Amino acid sequence: MRKPFIAGNWKMNKTVDEAYDLAIELVTGLRFVRDIDVALCPPFVSLTAVKSAIANTMLKLGAQNMHDQDRGAFTGEISPVMLKDLVEYVILGHSERRQHFGESDAFINRKVHAALRHGLHPILCIGETLEQNERGETESVLARQTREGLAGVSADQVASVVIAYEPVWAIGTGRAATAEDAQQRCAFIRQELRAMFGEVADAVRIQYGGSVTPANAPELLCQPDIDGALVGGASLKSEDFIAIVRAAHP
Ligand code: 13P
Repeated sequence: MRKPFIAGNWKMNKTVDEAYDLAIELVTGLRFVRDIDVALCPPFVSLTAVKSAIANTMLKLGAQNMHDQDRGAFTGEISPVMLKDLVEYVILGHSERRQHFGESDAFINRKVHAALRHGLHPILCIGETLEQNERGETESVLARQTREGLAGVSADQVASVVIAYEPVWAIGTGRAATAEDAQQRCAFIRQELRAMFGEVADAVRIQYGGSVTPANAPELLCQPDIDGALVGGASLKSEDFIAIVRAAHP
């Protein structure tokens, strides 16, 4: 009942020309895609180029961040109004934004509302750090980030939100969560969603992210509460990303 969803977060990689070329490779390699959503999330400056590369294909476009205000004196920021005709998805609250740019749950929550107001699908990232994991705080961190990130969102709206569970210690380390642990955490997040929103929680897609590769994708993606992946490093190599998408195919 939940359509698998694989998204590639290209982070701060690729020039505009390189992004276009990668998108063209993916268009060719992903022609087989059916019954699954695949989104590419390049840097802002490459959105237009990637959009033209994927025109008339099944591939979708996402941004990696945005501000919560529609316009104004926010030098260097990009608003939902600028994104809404360009992308379908927007990654919000990525741990790199929380860590390096001091984004709080309250700010991320305002961005979620701004995205929903403008018809964008937020991909809300949550996940515990290594220290929190070792202190046994994983569930309390996930509960807080889910509740504060989605505060004030209605049950109708939450169906268009995607949650990405990305344990911070697994990002870019080559050390993914085991499929069993990732499943357990995603099931816990769904339980939180059920407590907040009722049965619509069963319609919300939850991705796993953190060192997803062609090797570990099959096992991660067949877990009942893992509905897809948010892929970093491996999304920059067309062969790897294509293999991961293939693993998600129902
Ligand atoms: P890696 O796949 O490189 O670990 O990155 C995951 C991530 O942060 C996706 O948002």
